[in-house]
Amino acid sequence: MRTYRIAAVPGDGIGPEVLAEGMKVLRAASEARGISVDFEVFPFGSERYLKTGETVSERDLQDLERFDAMYFGAIGDPRVPTGVLEKEILLKLRFHFDQYVNLRPVKLYEGVPCPLVGKTPKDVDFYVVRENTEDFYVGLGGRASQPAEYGLKVSSGLGRGTTYSLKVSSLADEQAFQLGVLTRRGCERAIRYAFELARRKRKTLVTSVDKANVMTHVYGLWREVFQRVSMDYRDIGTEFAFVDAISMWFVKNPEHYQVVVAPNMFGDIITDLGAMIQGGMGLAPGANINPEGLSMFEPIHGSAPKYKGLNVANPIASILAGKMMLEFLAERRGDPALSEAAALVESSVALVLSEGRVRTRDIGGSSSTSQVGDSVVQRISEIEKGRFEAP
Ligand code: IPM
Ligand code: MN
Repeated sequence: MRTYRIAAVPGDGIGPEVLAEGMKVLRAASEARGISVDFEVFPFGSERYLKTGETVSERDLQDLERFDAMYFGAIGDPRVPTGVLEKEILLKLRFHFDQYVNLRPVKLYEGVPCPLVGKTPKDVDFYVVRENTEDFYVGLGGRASQPAEYGLKVSSGLGRGTTYSLKVSSLADEQAFQLGVLTRRGCERAIRYAFELARRKRKTLVTSVDKANVMTHVYGLWREVFQRVSMDYRDIGTEFAFVDAISMWFVKNPEHYQVVVAPNMFGDIITDLGAMIQGGMGLAPGANINPEGLSMFEPIHGSAPKYKGLNVANPIASILAGKMMLEFLAERRGDPALSEAAALVESSVALVLSEGRVRTRDIGGSSSTSQVGDSVVQRISEIEKGRFEAP
């Protein structure tokens, strides 16, 4: 039997609970299609950090190379200062494996309450392609409390290793600064991915997000590259949107969007908004993609520490992230059984959501995390037995 090896990182808070359901569902769906997924757990997260001070070691990074993909829960814990686990685990993995695209589908499923009055599933169905290694995420910055010269190193993206030195000459008071870095090739690879995605999914419009009216340097480059790349895709329409304006349009006219491509930080922000218009954080999956390397699939929500261990979190985002993982592997490996398994997961999720009997609190139900997972697994076997038509 063909076996795919997945590195699972349950992490903190609700991460382990939602990922457990995802693994359950992926096992069932792949078994139904005659393949197998084998999960090996990596204990990255607050517990290990608090006990040993270790986040992700060099050794861990080497071990991960052996896997077909990574399946991530969530990280973040109130006992650890903010930023440590985020930077040392999640961002470290994204950057180390050069997962330069963060693909976040915004799709409202039938039966899921949408906060936008009058909008239905046909109105909310697009992709956000977020550049995932550069921009304000490159770790370049500092705080100056006295005049001095500062040496600053770019720590991710294609500009990695470049050092900038900044001379602070006079200083009335303390100052803090954070610099965003975009590289031409870094913009190009994310933007090109968005156009290729549009073609693959038969979409006819790619919207580029920036704030080129104010941050003219970085987003001026972004815009220029977008324009250049778009020349190679004359069959696809293009437009620019400022990040503030698109935040309004997502709410007012989500049906306008097909593929949206954004620099890292704006992509981060608009996809939380995207999650809400698709029914909430409990439903929004994401994929950190390196098309030639190791990719990582995760719900876009965080660890929600206050719900930890209560078995109430919605596992659908995690399950759908798992579905993206199967799809991604299917394409890379050319294995149709994987894409059938992915379709089976999605149909089963869609059935559970549209029936509405089993759902977690965030979308108006009272079921537990594991009941939702069980119910998806049950639909998988029913679809297999032909008792349900896949929608
Ligand atoms: C996300 C998260 C992360 C990000 C944090 C936890 C580092 O908000 O995946 O959207 O900013 O990318
Ligand atoms: Mn975010």
